[in-house]
Amino acid sequence: MGRVDGKVVIITGALGGIGRADAALFAREGARLVLTDITEKGADDLLASLGTEAIFLRHDVSSEDDWARVVATAEERFGRLDALVNNAGMMVLGNLGDTSFADWRRVMSVNLDGVFLGCRAALPALERAGGGAIVNISSIAAMHGMPYVTAYCASKGGVRSLTKAVAVQCRQAKNNVRCNSVHPDGVKTPMVFKVATGQDSATREEIESITGSSDRFCEPEDIAAVVLFLVSDESRYVNGAEIMVDNAALVTGPA
Ligand SMILES: NC(=O)c1ccc[n+]([C@@H]2O[C@H](COP(=O)([O-])OP(=O)(O)OC[C@H]3O[C@@H](n4cnc5c(N)ncnc54)[C@H](O)[C@@H]3O)[C@@H](O)[C@H]2O)c1
Repeated sequence: MGRVDGKVVIITGALGGIGRADAALFAREGARLVLTDITEKGADDLLASLGTEAIFLRHDVSSEDDWARVVATAEERFGRLDALVNNAGMMVLGNLGDTSFADWRRVMSVNLDGVFLGCRAALPALERAGGGAIVNISSIAAMHGMPYVTAYCASKGGVRSLTKAVAVQCRQAKNNVRCNSVHPDGVKTPMVFKVATGQDSATREEIESITGSSDRFCEPEDIAAVVLFLVSDESRYVNGAEIMVDNAALVTGPA
């Protein structure tokens, strides 16, 4: 028996580093998956690798219409929705002075609007299923200022606060829905490679060439393990929590 046996879970940004690790772990633990991403490149290979009931949908998380279609498809295909992992995200480099308003809005639309739209679209479906879990991937950038990523910090801070507002609303509604956020430090994913080199995709070796042996970077699987816990019934009393996955970086301060 898997830890999320039979649960129907939407994972956004499923073709990225953390999304793929989530998909693989959730599949091993028995979930049925609705995997989404703005790109479709590599989706067939991912589905073929999973060995569980899973579908892939092209999905821009900043589109309200896309969200309605994704949630409706999940319920039509699997009869219910048990969890949403708001994982899709992006980063644009820039301090206050060199972040254009267009870049600010782009980061906000994906990282914060996307999570808002996802929570709002999924909540009625989770309630119809008798309860469920929302996991929002934030960052330690929500907890302290980081240089050169002004818009990203602000967007992830918004995700942290939004998570708590949704959690409180669900507690008051006694709807058995929980909403929690996860705050990684560095994770060895294509996002890190893209920020460092400007290139879109990367092998694990290429990513390692950027992160080296720094203890600021964990594996995508380290994040997936926490996300799995928050979706599973093991965390049934965990609501409105923020889980740092940072090897005490926040306690010691940035290196
Ligand atoms: N990698 C890190 O160091 C790190 C640290 C803290 C938090 N995070 C967060 O983890 C999450 C996953 O990031 P990752 O590191 O796996 O990056 P990644 O770039 O490997 O994956 C992100 C995925 O999101 C998708 N995406 C981007 N815009 C989208 C949109 N508008 N609609 C739908 N999908 C979209 C991309 O296509 C990509 O597949 C993000 O929210 C990111 O901010 C990452």
